[in-house]
Amino acid sequence: MSRKLVVVGQGYVGLPMALRAAEKGFAVVGLDTNASVVEALNAGTSHIDDVSDDELKAGLAAGYAASTDAVEIADADVVVVCVPTPLSSDGGPDLGPVEGAARAIGEHVQRGALVILESTTYPGTTEEVFAPLILRDGMQAGRDVNIAFSPERIDPGNEQFGVRNTPKVVGGLTSACTKAASEFYREFIDTVVEAKGAKEAEMAKLLENTFRHVNIALVNEMVRFSHELDIDLWDAIDCAATKPFGYMAFRPGPGVGGHCIPVDPSYLSHRVKAQLGYAFRMVELAEEINTAAPLYVANRVWQALNERRIAANGAKVLLLGVTYKANISDRRESPADPLAKRLLEWGAEVSYHDPYVSNWHVEGTDVELTGETDVDAAVNGADIVVLLQAHSAFDLDALASAAKSFLDTRGVVKSPEVIRL
Ligand SMILES: NC(=O)c1ccc[n+]([C@@H]2O[C@H](COP(=O)([O-])OP(=O)(O)OC[C@H]3O[C@@H](n4cnc5c(N)ncnc54)[C@H](O)[C@@H]3O)[C@@H](O)[C@H]2O)c1
Repeated sequence: MSRKLVVVGQGYVGLPMALRAAEKGFAVVGLDTNASVVEALNAGTSHIDDVSDDELKAGLAAGYAASTDAVEIADADVVVVCVPTPLSSDGGPDLGPVEGAARAIGEHVQRGALVILESTTYPGTTEEVFAPLILRDGMQAGRDVNIAFSPERIDPGNEQFGVRNTPKVVGGLTSACTKAASEFYREFIDTVVEAKGAKEAEMAKLLENTFRHVNIALVNEMVRFSHELDIDLWDAIDCAATKPFGYMAFRPGPGVGGHCIPVDPSYLSHRVKAQLGYAFRMVELAEEINTAAPLYVANRVWQALNERRIAANGAKVLLLGVTYKANISDRRESPADPLAKRLLEWGAEVSYHDPYVSNWHVEGTDVELTGETDVDAAVNGADIVVLLQAHSAFDLDALASAAKSFLDTRGVVKSPEVIRL
């Protein structure tokens, strides 16, 4: 009989991993508190960019099913938790979904099961928050239930690295827990790396995300003074990237977005502040610079209009690509929102074109926008076009040459007429 896996949280992370395990012969139940997501999944309709309806249907045929009923945990051999870890209103960690999932597991888990937390969180969560809610009736980690942390590293839209070929780090509460988690992942992931413990595995994920955050902030700060000094920073980065060792290229942009980079490092700085009383200064600085990036773009739009004697108030500004990264539809924490908000405050007429987004509620405003479907007409009618995400569907050279003014925040359009950030 095939072993049963329950994956709690069927979002960007949980669904792909559930389907990969179903493909490998597990009987998989995808548990989610959102009943409409569960209904759609069971009907073969995916809500995740990286999972096509056909892949989902193949998963359903291979033994995958979605459910809202936590009782599914009762006979599970393995439970993996992939629920969101957002920020609370005061900017600290909101572990509500993790605690909710842990309580449901604690109520139903059977002795001998393996429970793994994959949600990104601060070091210590698995041991101090997650495990105590799971271990009931004198149960002990490593003896009655194996509990481990394994950071999710999924990169939405990445066609080269997926669940199977991205190395998986695991760290358990005891060495028996680490061994059990490691054996489980080895069944469907090519490379599994054992951390010293859960805290080290938790820290590894936050180190990866903080590294990106800080390096993006570095070039987002440099792009400002490079512009003032009339230096093409993208060209300088391309040159630096020819060094075969000791350098990794990061490029400037309109700001950071998504569920990870703007959120996860705050989990770490909050932990350092709460437990040790001092600041994690690199993260705080990176946050300050990257949060200001969309507002810097707004200033550059204002400057470009001003040079043509056009007031921002009443100017027609077309934003190209409003998702948080190219070639996906995810809009979470997209820098397009603070940019549009600032432009709207100035009285600009903001419109957008994005093949992945049909309607857009601009966060922080009551503005609802419908995407322009005729991109050529939209470009012709705009006083300025701002490229935020270079989706591969865009014919950027043609759009840039048709525009009255084109601000490229990604440094990807070669024409000398184009204004680079
Ligand atoms: N999306 C990414 O690219 C990415 C990459 C690496 C790591 N992560 C991390 O993985 C975790 C999950 O992220 P995601 O992007 O998959 O989130 P998501 O919002 O796409 O999906 C989470 C799902 O969990 C469900 N859920 C919430 N609380 C629940 C509960 N108590 N029980 C059952 N289901 C519940 C929600 O309804 C939702 O469908 C986060 O910690 C995130 O930081 C995400």
